Amino acid sequence: MDKFSIMGPSRLRGKVEISGSKNSSLPILAATLLFNNPVVIKNLPKVKDINTMITLLRSLGSRVNLSNDRRTAKIDNPRKLKTFASYSLVKTMRGSILVLGPLITKYFHSKISLPGGCLIGARPINYHLDALKKLGMNYVLKDGYILAKSKGKLKGTIIKFPKISVGATENSIIAACLAEGVTILKNCAIEPEIKDLTNFLNSAGAKISWKGRVCKVIGVTSLNSTEYTVMADRIEAGTFCIAATVAKGKLDIMNLDARIINTELNLLKKFGAKVRVNKGKISIKGPKIIKSVQNIKTKEYPGVSTDMQSQLMVLMCKANGESSIIENIFENRFMHVAELRRLGAKINIVKNKAIIKGNSKFIGAELMSSDLRASASLVLAAMISRGKSTINRIYHLDRGYENIENKLKKIGVRIKRLK
Ligand code: EPZ
Repeated sequence: MDKFSIMGPSRLRGKVEISGSKNSSLPILAATLLFNNPVVIKNLPKVKDINTMITLLRSLGSRVNLSNDRRTAKIDNPRKLKTFASYSLVKTMRGSILVLGPLITKYFHSKISLPGGCLIGARPINYHLDALKKLGMNYVLKDGYILAKSKGKLKGTIIKFPKISVGATENSIIAACLAEGVTILKNCAIEPEIKDLTNFLNSAGAKISWKGRVCKVIGVTSLNSTEYTVMADRIEAGTFCIAATVAKGKLDIMNLDARIINTELNLLKKFGAKVRVNKGKISIKGPKIIKSVQNIKTKEYPGVSTDMQSQLMVLMCKANGESSIIENIFENRFMHVAELRRLGAKINIVKNKAIIKGNSKFIGAELMSSDLRASASLVLAAMISRGKSTINRIYHLDRGYENIENKLKKIGVRIKRLK
């Protein structure tokens, strides 16, 4: 298993090109199963999760042609696709559940493995199943699989999600595209990645419109060929913005519409960062003294993203005073805390709240990655620690950050991948 060796502390300067969004690309790729005509998806990030989704699409029979740089996929489906997704594929990436909506709406039956547990929380899929059931999908759970059937086409209806869910919103929108009649989805997630998915589908002739958290989908019989460019990754951008702030450096973050991380940029200003936005470029400069901020709460978009909670915690460790952050989305997303403590962090956890004493001096140590964003926080922490840190199990990072070590090297981090 690869490791990172990082020698700190680093002075950060330079420019970071942000890659395409992983969490946009995954539902968009799953939604290509709806098509009988070829589609071209551009700006895919070169990360493991995208490879996994492409392997899954190919296992279903999709012909996926990747460009030499692997950023563009041309996808052409045969008339009949397979409708079976095995445990071995689904267990490696929970996002695989997004093939359920397109397969059931197009072929009226499917057998998809249930995703297993996850380190950051139980992450059930009951909202996906309940919503698809309301659209006319019947299912039983057997031997770890969802055996789903419908009597012909799904039928549009009104669905109110009991709780906001990114994945359940995506699966339902995708399924509703080819359903008969009108589907109204209430209490939807409105993350930019979901808007990217609906822009993609509309570019192919789907009829999807939004009013706040209500999404209206008028079913169509088929979708047309389209070419679509995936939006930039706001979590990657946010991670680098936090890196600049915590390392008291200066970075230009390129290729991203800054409006989609407005909440996080405003938060970084409270920590003392100087932020300037100019036509797809964010210039961010860390303060001499990082201010503390209390009672930050992760929330669904447009709130502070749970995917930036662990990285923000590193910043709080370095703030001049006590800070706190409340995790409202996942019940077990503090796995990075024990590792940060090994560097010298003083963090106290009370239920879903982390109270962070500031002014910690980090000394390099050996660390263990647990999930994607936790691993990103360890990289940030190692980067500002004195001396050498080794981060184990960095395959978590490879799932969602494109070429992170090269991007970090370019801006001044002394980082090496050990094979
Ligand atoms: C998406 O996961 C993202 N993944 C996650 O990014 C992100 O952290 C999360 O949304 C929240 O923003 C992808 O886009 C591939 P949810 P998802 O359904 O769709 C509960 C990363 O690091 N819930 O919005 O799985 C659930 O347990 C990842 O890139 C149910 O109870 O998240 C959680 O507490 C990690 N039943 C909450 O809702 C359900 O059927 C929100 O989950 C569905 C969800």
